[in-house]
Amino acid sequence: MKIKQNYYIETYGCQMNVSDSELIISVLDNDDYEKVESIDNADIILFNTCSVREHAEQRVLGRVSNERHRKIQKPGLKIGILGCMAQRLGERLINEDLGIDFAIGVDQYHALPQILKEDCGAELNFDFNQVYEGIIPKHQGEHCAFITIMRGCNNFCSYCIVPHVRGRERSRPYSDIKKDIEDALKSNMLDITLLGQNVNSYLFEDKAFPTLLKQIEKDFPDIERLRFITSHPKDLSDELIEVMAESSMLCNHIHLPMQSGNNEVLSRMSRSYSFDDYMLIVNKLRKAVPDIALTTDLIAGFPGESEAQFKDTLQAMSDICFDYAFCFKYSPREGTEAASYENQVKEPERLRRLQEMIELQRKITLDKYKAMIGKEVEVYVEGFSKKSKKKVSGKSRDFKICVLTGSASDIGSIMRAKVIDATAGTLICE
Ligand code: 5AD
Ligand code: SF4
Repeated sequence: MKIKQNYYIETYGCQMNVSDSELIISVLDNDDYEKVESIDNADIILFNTCSVREHAEQRVLGRVSNERHRKIQKPGLKIGILGCMAQRLGERLINEDLGIDFAIGVDQYHALPQILKEDCGAELNFDFNQVYEGIIPKHQGEHCAFITIMRGCNNFCSYCIVPHVRGRERSRPYSDIKKDIEDALKSNMLDITLLGQNVNSYLFEDKAFPTLLKQIEKDFPDIERLRFITSHPKDLSDELIEVMAESSMLCNHIHLPMQSGNNEVLSRMSRSYSFDDYMLIVNKLRKAVPDIALTTDLIAGFPGESEAQFKDTLQAMSDICFDYAFCFKYSPREGTEAASYENQVKEPERLRRLQEMIELQRKITLDKYKAMIGKEVEVYVEGFSKKSKKKVSGKSRDFKICVLTGSASDIGSIMRAKVIDATAGTLICE
């Protein structure tokens, strides 16, 4: 029997990267490699990385420098950087004596076994058609599956590195999506999230995103919850809103990044919508899907953002009352348009704006969650609560974390519960 080599994988960044790691695991497990949970037992250490903000890259470089000492005890040990950061920094990662043996870009994961066997340094070519056809990721979750439906992005928002490191949009064939969902359902993952940088522009043969959703609903009546991330406001069609309104499978939640509440800033971000356009969509969604939860992404301190423009974003947050907002401090990314804008906001000011944003959102979320007290929610129990083994936790259909009294036998089941209290991140239920 052939002895398999052990690999350990660490994933950074967004859900897309988590899903890419599941793809990588599938490629390696089908070859001569075996995944281990402890880094101590690894012959190969893989870091699947993110480039969206500089902080994410610094963390990975810090992790590599912490783990490099292992090469002294185990001379054959290999350390590899995968994903967006490999794509962005390329051979620089290998040439700079950081302890990194190889770098593999986002379109070359199928070649990973061969690269490991040949000791090759870097495989970074873009393949704008790459959808990993025929490779079904090995889902690592227990109850929720994230299923990639498209890769890449064509939007070139002026701050964003993603189109530069993940290439152009391409959609996965329905036959593969179908196999992926079948696999997830066989493992009792009843909560399915369709993934892509911009799912609204999914297009395979003549199937657009609303058609894909309807097809999935028809083919897989056993799915309890269907979600999708991320939507770009400019591509969110009335047809999609209609499908959301009619579907009993789609959850009443949408993640719709606004980024800024000021038109001039939105324009310099190349977002292709105005604040009024955004509001129009929010109003349509709220009318069509009662109780829809709305989450968003916001950037603080974009180049040239004046105090008054920043205040427009705060005002928009108060007007819209997002259920939750992921707030980010602008991070200049080399090679993007905004990084070369002259009027960069100074770092301490970016940080102050970020903190103000986070604090405002905390209050809005708390008010929204408190307003749920007395209401019934449906909780898909995913595990024990972090704080107590007598409590279990999971998410409501509108994507809020719920904690309730329960035991091991409740895990994996759907429970109805009443909200009795709330914090700015959790609904306390019974
Ligand atoms: N700086 C800060 N935030 C960014 N994002 C993308 N690029 C940057 C950047 N350079 C944020 C956007 C996006 C989310 C995934 O990350 O808000 O929606
Ligand atoms: Fe980046 Fe914009 Fe594409 Fe989202 S839509 S990945 S923010 S370029």
